Amino acid sequence: MGVGRAKISIIGAGNVGATTALWCAAAELGDVVLVDIPEVEGMPQGKALDLLQASPIVGFDARIVGTTSYEATAGSDVVVITAGVPRKPGMSREDLLVTNVQIVTKVAGEVRKSSPQAIVIVVSNPLDAMVYRVWQVTGFPHHRVMGQAGVLDTARFRTFIAQELGVSVEDVSAMLLGGHGDTMVPIASCTSVGGIPVTQLIPAKRLDEIIERTRHGGAEIVNLLKTGSAYYAPAAATAQMVEAIVRDKKRLIPVAAYCDKQYGVGGLFVGVPVVLGANGVERIIELELSPKEQVAFTKSIGAVRKLVEQMNELCPI
Ligand code: APR
Repeated sequence: MGVGRAKISIIGAGNVGATTALWCAAAELGDVVLVDIPEVEGMPQGKALDLLQASPIVGFDARIVGTTSYEATAGSDVVVITAGVPRKPGMSREDLLVTNVQIVTKVAGEVRKSSPQAIVIVVSNPLDAMVYRVWQVTGFPHHRVMGQAGVLDTARFRTFIAQELGVSVEDVSAMLLGGHGDTMVPIASCTSVGGIPVTQLIPAKRLDEIIERTRHGGAEIVNLLKTGSAYYAPAAATAQMVEAIVRDKKRLIPVAAYCDKQYGVGGLFVGVPVVLGANGVERIIELELSPKEQVAFTKSIGAVRKLVEQMNELCPI
């Protein structure tokens, strides 16, 4: 990225995309390009201009532009893909597969051409399949393609634990593995509050209930909103990943990363703890799992594999 501001392009200027732009700009992570489709000409431009006019009030310097073509994205350092449709009540993330894979395939082709050196963060759902497709289409090395899921899922888990104990969210630290969905695997041994293992603070039965709520955290919000899915927390999670990259922070956070030998995954993107920095996914951390966690993780990998196979069958590249 060198001297100067990073260039962050966000594809899909809807709820998640525009809110990610807001978090990124407010934290002065770089210049932001918001991209959407020609059918909504004016929308990304309008949101970009509106956000730019917040800058003197909030006090951030960033060039923010909206567009419906990829020209302005050329040479981006980081590209965030949020293009696609969100869930409605009663829908699973998997129900979005057919619609979103077509959108994401197109977007990935454009990213490959316009920003061949970019690090790409995928947010569109169903996440674990969409990130795989972006990797297939761009042909970028594994470490430069990843999905946002774990930061959001752990944030939900951390929120509920903090609420339960009446303590600051800042003191709750958590880790989880697996796909972005009902099969996610929270790792109780890696969850602590002020350094104290959570198992010493919350009885097992109650913790199980909190884990269950976390698994369905996205659906809970879809059911409340009725017209779309969550975006404040997903966008904040994405901006945290952008920050880790543009500031080379080496954050140790859960990311949907390409795992082959790691955890015996065999060539899929799944949620694992990684070190995230200027080179993208710089390291994957392999945890020792309890037998129960191992079973749950294997099940989660199976679900991701099935989804990817289904995608490749329905919509071959
Ligand atoms: N290129 C660019 N943008 C596109 C394309 C495309 N080919 N196709 C659709 N879009 C845009 C839409 O025009 C819309 O503005 O993507 C945007 C999606 O925004 P929302 O409908 O507000 O959806 P959002 O809540 O942002 O969710 C987007 O992120 O979290 C996931 O499940 C969620 O898959 C969904 C995605």
